[in-house]
Amino acid sequence: MKVLSGMRPTGKLHLGHYFGVIKNWIELQEKHETLFMIADWHALTTNYKNTEQIKENVEQVMIDWITLGLDPKKSILFVQSEVKEELELFLIFSMITPKSWLEWNPTYKDMKLNLLKISDLELSFKGGLRDLVKEFLAKVPYQVEDFEALEDMLLDTVSDTFIRAVFEGMLEPELLKRLNVSKRDFYDTDTYGFLGYPVLQAVDILIYKADAVPVGEDQLPHIELSREIARKFNQLYGEIFPEPKALLTETPRLLGIDGRKMSKSYNNAIFFADDKEEVRQKVMRFFTDPQKLRKGDPGRPHICPVFFYHRLFTEGEKTKQIEADCMSGALGCVDCKRIMFDSLEKFLEPIRERRREVEKSIAEIKEVFQEGSKKAREIAKKTLEEVKERIKL
Ligand code: TRP
Repeated sequence: MKVLSGMRPTGKLHLGHYFGVIKNWIELQEKHETLFMIADWHALTTNYKNTEQIKENVEQVMIDWITLGLDPKKSILFVQSEVKEELELFLIFSMITPKSWLEWNPTYKDMKLNLLKISDLELSFKGGLRDLVKEFLAKVPYQVEDFEALEDMLLDTVSDTFIRAVFEGMLEPELLKRLNVSKRDFYDTDTYGFLGYPVLQAVDILIYKADAVPVGEDQLPHIELSREIARKFNQLYGEIFPEPKALLTETPRLLGIDGRKMSKSYNNAIFFADDKEEVRQKVMRFFTDPQKLRKGDPGRPHICPVFFYHRLFTEGEKTKQIEADCMSGALGCVDCKRIMFDSLEKFLEPIRERRREVEKSIAEIKEVFQEGSKKAREIAKKTLEEVKERIKL
């Protein structure tokens, strides 16, 4: 079985990437022929306005992949844009892909919204929204300990809602003016390239004739589309492409420090590049059971993000004790977080050290990806030759 997957270079990797994606890839590379690509062209589809970060992000992903254990001796590790053959197949696939497949692609509409991140928008919008959040917080009659953290968290939460509301035309013109936005700012991804995102992904998969693609659930429609393109090509010109199947990973989604899914854009992630102090501060800011206000109050570990981490990183016996002591009220959240921090650090520290070493040899790491890209190109070339022969170009 040939396995391929890809990742858009959005920057440094966090714990969520490891438990959701990389850990699985590492297991797969032990048993199968594997290819893993950094999909930098895909980053362009949404980030064409801010391209200055992409190169740096690609390097950060390289460093993290190697640090975490993807092994160039076992896998072909490469960069999408190094394989120009993909573009030729992209063009050919564009000819045979009905527009409607792309427009009906259930992620298309969703992504158009979801991928709009506040950081892509005018800072003035963020500023205006922050003022609104401040105004709101000033009216809340509670004592707030870490005011700025709460402000950030709220800003993050409401920004998604605001973006959606603006997009759907639900906000008063008055408010829009105050936030300094117009609906036009939101059609960021209303482009030809973005519509074609899944066609490019189909190329990524099919040009290397992958049989299986480990992805998260959100990517299923894209894999389905790849299968349809493969089928259509095979019908028109003869069998060349295997129909790739998705390998769904059943890892529970890792929670961020606010209890939502860990994601860079939610500002709730713990990165492998974070130093110990940064991790400590993040752990101390973790959300806990809102009903447990002070030590002595009984807590509900099963809804607590901190306990979720204990289960992952603290030894079993200790975790049982923590569970009991939280529920009885004997253990306060601050102490509980301290224990969790120690457990988490046991996991993170060696990785952090390895990352520092890997970082020092970035030139060699880039070389590794150059080599990988060369191997990928060999495969792509062969497929492309077959393709062109079949369509008599
Ligand atoms: N679209 C994928 C994502 O956002 C990344 C990706 C690009 C990919 N090319 C791929 C995944 C090929 C699997 C196979 O997560």
